[in-house]
Amino acid sequence: MYDKHISHIIFKTISEALKPQQEAYVIGGFVRDIFLKRPSKDIDIVTVGSGVELAQKVAHKLGVKKVTVFKNFGTAMFHYQDWEVEFVGARKESYSHDSRKPIVENGTLKDDQLRRDFTINALAISLVKKDWGALVDPFNGLNDLNNKRIVTPTDPEITFSDDPLRMMRAIRFATQIRFNIDPVTFEAIKQQAHRIEIVSMERIIDELNKIMMADVPSIGFKLLYESDILKIIFPDLLNLMGVDTIGKFSHKDNFYHTLQVLDNIAENTQNLWLRWAALLHDIGKPATKKFSPSGGFSFHSHEVVGSKMIPKLFKQLKLPLNEKMKYVQKLVFLHLRPIVLASDIVTDSAVRRLLYEAGDDIDDLMMLAEADITSNNDNKVKRFLNNFKIVRSKLVEIEEKDRVRNWQPPINGEEIIQMFNLAPSKTVGELKDIIKEAILEGIIPNEREEAYHFLVEKAKEKGIEVVYPLTF
Ligand code: CTP
Repeated sequence: MYDKHISHIIFKTISEALKPQQEAYVIGGFVRDIFLKRPSKDIDIVTVGSGVELAQKVAHKLGVKKVTVFKNFGTAMFHYQDWEVEFVGARKESYSHDSRKPIVENGTLKDDQLRRDFTINALAISLVKKDWGALVDPFNGLNDLNNKRIVTPTDPEITFSDDPLRMMRAIRFATQIRFNIDPVTFEAIKQQAHRIEIVSMERIIDELNKIMMADVPSIGFKLLYESDILKIIFPDLLNLMGVDTIGKFSHKDNFYHTLQVLDNIAENTQNLWLRWAALLHDIGKPATKKFSPSGGFSFHSHEVVGSKMIPKLFKQLKLPLNEKMKYVQKLVFLHLRPIVLASDIVTDSAVRRLLYEAGDDIDDLMMLAEADITSNNDNKVKRFLNNFKIVRSKLVEIEEKDRVRNWQPPINGEEIIQMFNLAPSKTVGELKDIIKEAILEGIIPNEREEAYHFLVEKAKEKGIEVVYPLTF
């Protein structure tokens, strides 16, 4: 009996709205999550009869004004407080959201459960008065929950053919709740992997982002690889896989290295876009790989090539083409800089330049660079991490002194135009750069008056005289 999980007024109201002989059940994720102890506010209700009619009746009783009806799917939903409640009539045929043909053939609860994705998502709790709170579990979902098993309620070929996105859902659940996909179910995913092509990228990326946000996202990417789905949805990532060996030279497998970096960053941040930056940080490597008999393999400028690949990748993957994308681009572009800095003597001017370029994303960049250290050589790792500590403390020290993190020029372009009586031109940019470079190099402090005198002197050397001096 699961009465205590259905004590909310919504469930009581549904029960009271039922006609004599009408059945209704809570089903799917809400029930699964009771057992996983993941409280959920999304309720799915299945009724033997019209889901739309029941939704309208319940909404009326609860005083809810707006009910959204999806006629094609025979479903309806409304919001009540912070709950989202969706109603559907039990069906014999597919549950599929993306099916184009109308497939609503009324069925029993068991018919409906059979056509759901996994046994753990097919559990139902009765809202019928006479067996209020009883668990209805014809496909042993509870047993599979206890055994951490993802398996389809019917022949997996049918389940995945009804909605191929379910193949990704299997992998997403395996990653998110750390369950194992049953071997027969996984074999069917491998067989039908190509059918993911008929699913819209918007739905695919939803699942991929859920994998990205799991505690250990690499689990999902390895399964996507093993099932051959990755090859179809994200071939560029797969291009990172493999190790070349020529003579005594070889390079690391950049696919598994990338996954390690992603797992490392996932331990430290819930920022989806920083996780994407980790996944894409080496994406430019295959295109820049070179071999030289004296030096072995190199990937020069892979950060530049990689950051240029990002808009196209984001477009393909239907990720947002806005400031999130720019942020990922920037981090990919800069990802080597802290490491280069930490391998050398850490000079003030190098730290100042890094601060200037990374701006407010400096902490994220440092986190990415640290996650990128995946060497097996403990001494090397220790040395790097120690140098990172030095870089971090220098970053704080220099920011306090010079405030270049969100740098605004102490004398702006407008003022330069007026002082020297110039037309807006390339010269203005050059004069601005003189100030910026001098501050970043530490020749002058980040102060207005000093910048002014320095600029006047340098301009004079170029034959440009002040016409309207600034006063202080
Ligand atoms: N479902 C299905 N096939 C799909 C999507 C959903 O059979 N492709 C069924 C499952 O029974 C699922 C329920 O519809 O439990 C609700 O789906 P949804 O809200 O998308 O997912 P949840 O299982 O609730 O999980 P999550 O909230 O984590 O997405």
